[in-house]
Amino acid sequence: MKNAMSILKTKRLILRPWKEADLAPFAALNADPKVMEYFPSILTKEQSEATLKSSQAHIEKYGWGKWAVTLIETGEFIGRIGLEELDFQANFSSNIELGYRLAFEHWGKGYASEGANAALKYGFNYLNLNEIIAFTPVQNMLSRAVMKRIGMHHDSKDDFDHPKLLEGHPLRRYVLYRISQKEWVAQQSDEGLTVRKCKTAEEIKAAIEFRQKHFFDERGIQDPYVWTFGHESHHHFTLKKGNNLIGYAHIQYWPNHRAALRIIVINQKQKRKGYGSYLMQYCEQVLKEEGIQTLHTEAHPTALKFYEHLGYSKMPFDDPEGHPSDKQDTPLGKKLL
Ligand SMILES: CC(C)(COP(=O)(O)OP(=O)(O)OC[C@H]1O[C@@H](n2cnc3c(N)ncnc32)[C@H](O)[C@@H]1OP(=O)(O)O)[C@@H](O)C(=O)NCCC(=O)NCCS
Repeated sequence: MKNAMSILKTKRLILRPWKEADLAPFAALNADPKVMEYFPSILTKEQSEATLKSSQAHIEKYGWGKWAVTLIETGEFIGRIGLEELDFQANFSSNIELGYRLAFEHWGKGYASEGANAALKYGFNYLNLNEIIAFTPVQNMLSRAVMKRIGMHHDSKDDFDHPKLLEGHPLRRYVLYRISQKEWVAQQSDEGLTVRKCKTAEEIKAAIEFRQKHFFDERGIQDPYVWTFGHESHHHFTLKKGNNLIGYAHIQYWPNHRAALRIIVINQKQKRKGYGSYLMQYCEQVLKEEGIQTLHTEAHPTALKFYEHLGYSKMPFDDPEGHPSDKQDTPLGKKLL
């Protein structure tokens, strides 16, 4: 079965599958010596066409890849940004590479970082990758600046000779930049966000009050599951912004390396700011480190989009305790490992 082809949107850009009409502007940027300064040569129209076709084939096969990039404001094609599986054998810690190439007249406006950030977000949130790498010849300082700006880091121990370039080629030495999922998640928290697994009496009291006020009051019921706070297979996470509690998640550990997200809730005033995603990713990280392989949930219709955005898809819930499900909810899951 073919994967659905993803389209990414940022403030100013659309990253989408390729169209025939992209060939002319793509061939033009690949034939520009300024753009291709750090590539072995400029590309002929035929080579550009082959590159476009192989980028599109990757997107059709996996649903994602190196997308065609256009400006939202004008619709103009400006280049190619995205993730791709390495097309050569290497001993890197990840085989998913981030790449970007833009037409010269669109340099210096932050488009590469904006698009690359969206690709990282997709790779970590949706594909649940452990690490993403990027590489470029040592001399390509502008490209390295983008990698640095989006939070990737470089260790000279990882430098390598590109296997497709002959010895003595001036561009043969490459630098490798990397970012792990954990580093990326931490980097999203430049607003003083902290997540805690509730342990102290004070943390537990605050969490109970929060879930009553923001989750159960909305449904007009008294929290029936306060007892889970003393139960070893139930874990409760709170999200704070500075000193304010703004989110909460309840996770139940199941046998066979499975877990269920029972509740996630963000304070009404703080919704649609990425905090729910941040809390989910944090919990997924913790669970992954503890060897949990799949996280399940039953999504209320109003929360479906939220879970889809984080890479959850339809999966049987199979509650080992056999609690009945609410008919309006959709069973979803995500493989963490
Ligand atoms: C579900 C919930 C936890 C999401 O938290 P949040 O912090 O608002 O979510 P985020 O800001 O991280 O949303 C990330 C993405 O999910 C999608 N999304 C989230 N809420 C959405 C909504 N109401 N409608 C459509 N898309 C939504 C969007 O794609 C959003 O990205 P965008 O804002 O850039 O478009 C929050 O809405 C909530 O507390 N709901 C009430 C409790 C609840 O229903 N919990 C789930 C029970 S199954």
